[in-house]
Amino acid sequence: MPDGFRAEWPMDLNAPKDSLEAKQPRPADIGLDVVDPERYYTRDYMQKEWRSLWPRVWLLAGVTPDIKEPGDFTVFTHGHEEFIIVRQDDGGVKAFYNACPHRGNRVCLTEQGSVPKFACPFHGWQFHCDGKLAKITDEETFDPELIKHRPGLTEVRCDIVGGLIFINIDGEAPPLKEWIGLPEGYIENYEIEQMNAVRHVRSEWKANWKTGVDAFYETYHLPHIHPQTQGVMEDFSQIDLYPNGFSRMIVPIGVKSHRVKDQDTIDPYQQHMMQEAGIDPETFDGKPAEVREAIQKAKRKRGKKFGLDYYDKLTDGQLSDSWATGFFPNVQIGMHPEGVFIMRFIPHASDPERFYYDNITMLRHVEDPGYTTPAWMGLPEGTDVTGEIRPEIEHVPPDVKPDLGEVLDQDVELVAAVQQGVKSRGFKGPLWCEQEDRLRHFHRELDRYISGEK
Ligand code: FES
Ligand SMILES: [Fe+2]
Repeated sequence: MPDGFRAEWPMDLNAPKDSLEAKQPRPADIGLDVVDPERYYTRDYMQKEWRSLWPRVWLLAGVTPDIKEPGDFTVFTHGHEEFIIVRQDDGGVKAFYNACPHRGNRVCLTEQGSVPKFACPFHGWQFHCDGKLAKITDEETFDPELIKHRPGLTEVRCDIVGGLIFINIDGEAPPLKEWIGLPEGYIENYEIEQMNAVRHVRSEWKANWKTGVDAFYETYHLPHIHPQTQGVMEDFSQIDLYPNGFSRMIVPIGVKSHRVKDQDTIDPYQQHMMQEAGIDPETFDGKPAEVREAIQKAKRKRGKKFGLDYYDKLTDGQLSDSWATGFFPNVQIGMHPEGVFIMRFIPHASDPERFYYDNITMLRHVEDPGYTTPAWMGLPEGTDVTGEIRPEIEHVPPDVKPDLGEVLDQDVELVAAVQQGVKSRGFKGPLWCEQEDRLRHFHRELDRYISGEK
């Protein structure tokens, strides 16, 4: 294939050139790598990731609305490690290993909460929220020499951007703002810090974490695995690659897929979406292809009505579409004006063929009876959308469907089947097309870390 190959692309969003929505040029050196599938299942590769990847990147550890007040904490689990993320008296945020300096016990056994001090459940040592030692039980029985460094919790580098809290284990990564390959304002414009987590589900899937990332990084599989989306979603997404392994996929919503023959009749899903945006589908006399724009206009109006000033920072496309944004290496955030879906693909502590699909739904609460939370956010009946109480994490074991909606149920089965196939002797490595450029880009960056180039 000659350098500079470009596929026929049926979708053009015609975004303003200087906006964050504009299509990024496809890198000329995107290449034709076919990676060795052993990265998806061997323990050796898993260990390489623990040596060369996880300690060196910034990991999404939490969101600021989860820890609003001093002493509020959340525990972040990543593989065999755990971290306590805690709000400080001065409003800052610090992160610590969840390991007691006395004998290593987990200091914090609850996943979230609020404390004046942390007390280790094993022998009762206490630590201030800034990690400093507060009290050693029966201190007089310790040789003063052994504890003269006043052992506290071990701190981990921590920084925040746009309401997202990240940690860097080895402390050597470039500054967070530089490391995040997205343009200025990209994350901030959604004002995630003003949203609240209203649902948090962590399900265990039978696959490597990268098998999961790969499946969520493309919409090429939509017509085959999720054909029900065709009435309301274009599967040819706009794909944009950013520095440092970051990427985006703009999934146009409110349109029928170009694959659907009937482009004259409005789909029932489209009608439903119009209704939610405040348009009466009965009186709408446009074509299915005009629904997306009508929704954008209606949402723009609604944003003004409800005083949602941050809508002014979003393009028309952002009001209707999903900006599925890949944060290297293991996070994707589906960004919408009403809220965001945070997906973390968390590696299992010991099994390279398991991961946790961690899904946090965050909503911007609008205190008005005329405002409804969109049904496509998939929240179960009775979900408290006010954000007053941070919900507990719902833990879903393997073999149990996570109840995240029909589309995700389909993905659970798909991803497990892919995991089995990639181990086959007959499989020679993935052959990615242009619709799968984000996978190519992600694995390239991963290779840079594993090889030591980064
Ligand atoms: S292990 Fe924490 S007090 Fe002993
Ligand atoms: Fe899927």
